[in-house]
Amino acid sequence: MISEVGDQKPEVRGQFTRRSPPLADVGGRSEVRLRLRSRLTVSSVEPSERFTILDSLFTMLPQAISPRLADVLSSAESICVLTGAGVSAESGVPTFRSTGGLWEKFSPEDLARFESFIRNPDLVWEWYNYRKKILSEVAPNEGHVALARMQDLVPDFTLVTQNVDGLHARAGSRNVVELHGNITRSYCIQCKLLAGEEEQATFERTPKCRTCGGLLRPDVVWFGELLPAGAFEKAMEAAHRCDVFLSVGTSGVVYPAASIPLAARSAGAYVVEINPEYTDLSPRMNETILGPSGKVLPHLVTILTQRHSHEST
Ligand SMILES: NC(=O)c1ccc[n+]([C@@H]2O[C@H](COP(=O)([O-])OP(=O)(O)OC[C@H]3O[C@@H](n4cnc5c(N)ncnc54)[C@H](O)[C@@H]3O)[C@@H](O)[C@H]2O)c1
Ligand SMILES: [Zn+2]
Repeated sequence: MISEVGDQKPEVRGQFTRRSPPLADVGGRSEVRLRLRSRLTVSSVEPSERFTILDSLFTMLPQAISPRLADVLSSAESICVLTGAGVSAESGVPTFRSTGGLWEKFSPEDLARFESFIRNPDLVWEWYNYRKKILSEVAPNEGHVALARMQDLVPDFTLVTQNVDGLHARAGSRNVVELHGNITRSYCIQCKLLAGEEEQATFERTPKCRTCGGLLRPDVVWFGELLPAGAFEKAMEAAHRCDVFLSVGTSGVVYPAASIPLAARSAGAYVVEINPEYTDLSPRMNETILGPSGKVLPHLVTILTQRHSHEST
């Protein structure tokens, strides 16, 4: 179940040694743009079937965490976590690469673009309203809760997410670095003002700005757009100073987010991927734990809790 991939002799770094170089801000946005590197191949095994098998294995085998990971976690002063859509999958939020549903005929790579929005804002809003409706009906899962617990178990903890669903905050995580914005907010494409809740409340068509009448758009980062100012830089700093880095539920195809675990590895952190399947990042990890995050992360919390109670006695 646990596969060691990549370098067989990983190096564990003790202290923070290096900070990433500062990157320039461009009008409230980082200079870093969102881009897609490649598409994932679709596995022939149904995800639901895979989860059933993996779920039962992880329920039965908490000792499935490798001794090496248990060891580095026990002494880690700084942990950085990057999450992707997979961490919300067990809440019932579809990932972009999951199959089935109304939106299968539209590719996210085509819809999540400013040009697509200008061409057909109603279609793009329909897609976001569909996703917001799903979010209003789901709750954080055990993976989100485990990450919220982790923040109080290590001296330095940074949670970076590519998700726009706000589920980490709903689970109790503080100061989440949101690389791609948040679906619950929107702003005017003309005057850039953030819209109030009532302006974006259930509507059939594209909502308009109360101040200038411009089109409102979701406050998320679309392909080719700049990341929110400071978010990527904050993530890279945490990646450079952490002892353990967890890459959770991300396919590793959306950049620049996918470069963050690689930066952590180069800086000497022990880098672990948690995902039910191998990804483009797997060969570059110290370890890949093949399992759903809602089952795996609580085991890591158990290790950190044991250490915490040992330290405070
Ligand atoms: N919930 C959300 O906010 C949401 C949902 C869909 C897409 N997105 C956006 O999509 C982009 C796509 O990149 P991505 O890498 O985040 O998602 P992705 O859809 O490309 O990949 C999801 C990954 O999660 C894995 N996965 C599925 N179930 C899992 C589970 N139970 N536990 C752990 N991993 C699981 C899959 O194997 C896959 O590798 C990002 O920019 C993100 O903002 C966000
Ligand atoms: Zn406006």
